[in-house]
Amino acid sequence: MPSDTRSLLRSSPPMNPPAMKPRRVTVLDLAAARGRPRPLSMVTAYDWPTARLADESGVDCVLVGDSVAMVVAGRTSTIPATLEQMIYHGEIVSRAVSRALVVVDLPFPLQHLGVRTAVEASARILKETGCQAVKLEGTAGQADVIAGIVAAGIPVMGHVGLRPQAVHQLGGYRMQRDEDRLVVDARAAADAGAFAVVLECIPAAVAATLSRTLPVPTFGIGAGPDCDGQVLVMHDLVGLSPDRVPKFVRQYADAKSTIADALARWRADVERRKFPGPDETLG
Ligand code: KIV
Repeated sequence: MPSDTRSLLRSSPPMNPPAMKPRRVTVLDLAAARGRPRPLSMVTAYDWPTARLADESGVDCVLVGDSVAMVVAGRTSTIPATLEQMIYHGEIVSRAVSRALVVVDLPFPLQHLGVRTAVEASARILKETGCQAVKLEGTAGQADVIAGIVAAGIPVMGHVGLRPQAVHQLGGYRMQRDEDRLVVDARAAADAGAFAVVLECIPAAVAATLSRTLPVPTFGIGAGPDCDGQVLVMHDLVGLSPDRVPKFVRQYADAKSTIADALARWRADVERRKFPGPDETLG
C-alpha cells in the first residue's frame, strides 16, 4: 500500500461509529418515576413512521391502542379491533421503537373469556409483536385475569374509568363519576399486579386521590393534571382525527390541514403540467 494512502487511512475519522442503542424504558423505570417531579408521557402509534417519531420525541411509553379501529380504520368504536389487527400493528410499532416501553391493547372481549384465554392472547401479543406489556380494560371483575397474565410473566397495564370497549353499557363516551367504583376498580387492578393504571375520563380530584394512594403509577386521559403521567391518542394530538376531538385533548398541530394543503397544491400542479418539473424528471 503506498505510504500516502496509509497516512490518509490513519488520519481518517473512524467510519460509522457503532450506533448507541438507547436503553429501553422498563416497568421498573415507571415504578421509580412515581412521585417524581417529571410526569410520565405515553402516546398511541399504529404504524412505522409515527412510532419512530413518537420514540424520537422521548416519550416514556408508546401505546398500540385499540383506538386504531377508530382513528385508522374509521370505525365508530374500538369494539371491532381484533387480536390479529392488534398483533399486526403491534409488531410494526415494536420494530420501530427502540427506547420507549411498547404497550399493546388486549382487544374486546378477550379479558372476559376467562384467565386461560386472556393469558393465551396476551402471550401471542408479547411473542408475535415484540412489545413489552399489554393493556387491559376492566373492572374489579377482571382482577383474576390480570393476576393470571402477570403470573405468566407478562406485564399488564390496567385501564379503568371510561372503558371505551364498554361504551354501550356505559351509555356513551361520558365521564365516570362513581368514586367508590373507581377506587375499587383501580385498586383491584393494582392489587392484581398491574404495573400502571390508565384513568380515563374521571374527575380530576378522584384521579389525584388515586394517584396519591395507588402503589403504581397512573396515566390520565381526561383525568386532570395530578396523575403520574398523561396519555393521548396521536391523531388527536397532531390534529389528524377526522371528527371532533374530545374536550380533554390539546391539539399541538394541524396535520389534517397540512396534508390537505399539500395534496391540493400537488393536484393543481399536475393539472397545470407543473409537476413533474426538470428536477423531478429522470434522464
Ligand atoms: O386505545 C387507546 O388509544 C387507549 C387510550 C385512549 C388510553 O386506550
